[in-house]
Amino acid sequence: MMKSYRVGMVGYKFMGKAHSHAYRDLPMFFPQVAAPQMKLICGRDESGVSAAAAQFGWEGYVTDWRELVSHPEIDIVDINAPSDTHKEIALAAAAAGKHLFCEKPLALTLADTREMLEAAEAAGVKHMVGFNYRFAPAVQLAKKLVEEGRLGEIYHFRAWFLQDWIVDPNFPLVWRLQKEIAGSGSHGDLGAHLIDLAHFLIGDMQEVIGMSETFVKERPLPTSMTGLSAKGSADAPRGPVTVDDATLFMARFACGALGSFEATRFAPGHRCTNSFEINGSKGSVKFDFERMNELQVYFTSDDEDVQGFRRVLATDPSHAYMDAWWPAGHTIGYEHTFIHEVVELMRALEEDRQPIPNFVDGVKCQQVLEAVEQSIAQRRWVSINEV
Ligand SMILES: NC(=O)c1ccc[n+]([C@@H]2O[C@H](COP(=O)([O-])OP(=O)(O)OC[C@H]3O[C@@H](n4cnc5c(N)ncnc54)[C@H](O)[C@@H]3O)[C@@H](O)[C@H]2O)c1
Repeated sequence: MMKSYRVGMVGYKFMGKAHSHAYRDLPMFFPQVAAPQMKLICGRDESGVSAAAAQFGWEGYVTDWRELVSHPEIDIVDINAPSDTHKEIALAAAAAGKHLFCEKPLALTLADTREMLEAAEAAGVKHMVGFNYRFAPAVQLAKKLVEEGRLGEIYHFRAWFLQDWIVDPNFPLVWRLQKEIAGSGSHGDLGAHLIDLAHFLIGDMQEVIGMSETFVKERPLPTSMTGLSAKGSADAPRGPVTVDDATLFMARFACGALGSFEATRFAPGHRCTNSFEINGSKGSVKFDFERMNELQVYFTSDDEDVQGFRRVLATDPSHAYMDAWWPAGHTIGYEHTFIHEVVELMRALEEDRQPIPNFVDGVKCQQVLEAVEQSIAQRRWVSINEV
């Protein structure tokens, strides 16, 4: 009989809900993959976490993550609390021999991410980092085209992740705007996804140079917050914003390509524009997460009179993960990226291999984040190996 893996999850709001939904839906659509068992959920507030346990379908709850990470009936610890908690929870869970599934960014600093990777390796456990956008079938198609050489030699990787949820200067000072909790702002939140997509799609970077800005330097303190929403009042006491509102950088890749990256929360009209374009000697691809089922594809080999970008709907059974879903053309959404991510985690556990992406990818992403920060502070190009 297929093994089932018992999950203990920390955090039950934005990502906690996305991961819970993935665990619940997976057995229905991927019955050939080991099933996650939703054992324990953890949050500090008992009334909130008990309500979430009932709503999301967890068997039980605890209010202290220490109880969860050492619990004998847990195989995987899934970390969805704010980024400053990741390291301590992951180290304790690894020491208790649990497999790790941790949201991005992996931790606040490169040194911390390296410590987490070393701890996971020393404990001999499996480790995964939550770069969910890799799991959109259209992104997997872009990867396939690059890998099969169908775009030829890669010249450019151009990526931008644009949001607008904090444009209002009275939007409260949520944890994402505090360096000691979030590590960085748009850079580590949105830029981290772009960096991971670049690594996944065209490989490592060699050097970077960046610039960043904090447009609104003080904000009212919040009364409550969840994910990207918060409550507060404009006349509440204010505190300093200690992270970047926008960070842009350029990169040179090991494959010879040139890259440009823009991550901002100050782009009115852009709710979640996570986009990239790759240009190669034989063609180009364009992806925009807000139309996540589509990949725009251009081949130089097309007859001249019909050359142009074609819209490929990545929903055929031949597209990654799509044979588990609906008839071709019946699209999927954001939540499916998390289901596919958990499918990869379950397959890796069954096959006794590391899932992809894992903490190595989390460390590599953090290395680029920090190289960009160093380049901004020192106003110069920084080699990735310097940090
Ligand atoms: N993959 C993605 O696209 C994506 C999207 C959003 C967030 N994230 C990452 O996921 C993590 C969580 O973000 P979120 O948006 O879900 O945050 P959130 O504010 O919506 O939820 C955080 C949860 O953690 C809980 N929590 C905080 N401190 C805790 C502690 N000490 N012990 C137990 N629980 C604690 C809170 O009660 C809450 O349930 C962050 O690291 C963030 O960067 C990733």
